[in-house]
Amino acid sequence: MTILDGKKISNDIKNEIAEQVKRMKENGEKVPHLAAIIVGNDGASLTYVASKVKACERVGFESTMVRLSNTVSQVELLDKIKELNENPDIDGFIIQLPLPKQIDTQKVILAVNPDKDVDGFHPMNFGKMALDMSTFIPATPFGILELLDRYNVDTQGKHTVVIGRSHIVGRPMSILMGRKGFPGNSTVTLTHSHTKNITQITSQADIIISALGVPNFLKAEMVKDDAVIIDVGITRVPDDTTEKGYRITGDVDFENVSKKASFITPVPGGVGPMTIAMLLKNTLLARERQM
Ligand code: GUN
Repeated sequence: MTILDGKKISNDIKNEIAEQVKRMKENGEKVPHLAAIIVGNDGASLTYVASKVKACERVGFESTMVRLSNTVSQVELLDKIKELNENPDIDGFIIQLPLPKQIDTQKVILAVNPDKDVDGFHPMNFGKMALDMSTFIPATPFGILELLDRYNVDTQGKHTVVIGRSHIVGRPMSILMGRKGFPGNSTVTLTHSHTKNITQITSQADIIISALGVPNFLKAEMVKDDAVIIDVGITRVPDDTTEKGYRITGDVDFENVSKKASFITPVPGGVGPMTIAMLLKNTLLARERQM
């Protein structure tokens, strides 16, 4: 069994990006600038955005964090997006999801200039992804592809089962694994809350990508020997024995599933750090495209 070490690979990628930024600076070029809009005070969202900003500093990017109140109106948020769209200094930006209930998330995603949409959530970019055109691939799916690639995990002709159809992970992942090329060329089954007999499906999978958000959902008896297991779950579970009062738990019963798996991602330290590295990669791409 091989651990797919997202912490190590994301560090390698950040080092590669930092090298490129160093060369940009030496050539007197503008360095990439990422902005992130965060609405409200959700602890997990604040942590993620803080990590994204810290990662920018680490590779030499400029970063801007825009904090808006939980009660911000749709109009105010759209105004802020317009400002970032029009600011030539900002190469790419994200709006951390989820958003409060008074905000129409679809309208927000549509308002982002597709050339600055480093999350790859705009329908223009999502459509390009589905049609194999050059675009911004959403950071978490992009990170999973990169992990599979760097560990030479064979995906061709394999049966990939994706659990969860979220717009951010499950849905794009199901498209990407079936695309022509590597990683890809998989036969894909997308499962969700209405899927019947999920164990019957997962136990036929060569590759399982779980993005459900239910701690320890995937048990050893649902997995065949030598399966490749990608765990995208990052649920905060209360735990008084830790300093923060919670621990991060994945969708996979790691202790037992890892005994059967050929490759497996840990939580934390698997997909999570890859997401941030690939957001940086998309921001670098946005800068390069604007040159
Ligand atoms: N919320 C959970 N994952 C993501 C992500 O990748 N991007 C944004 N903007 N919000 C998220």
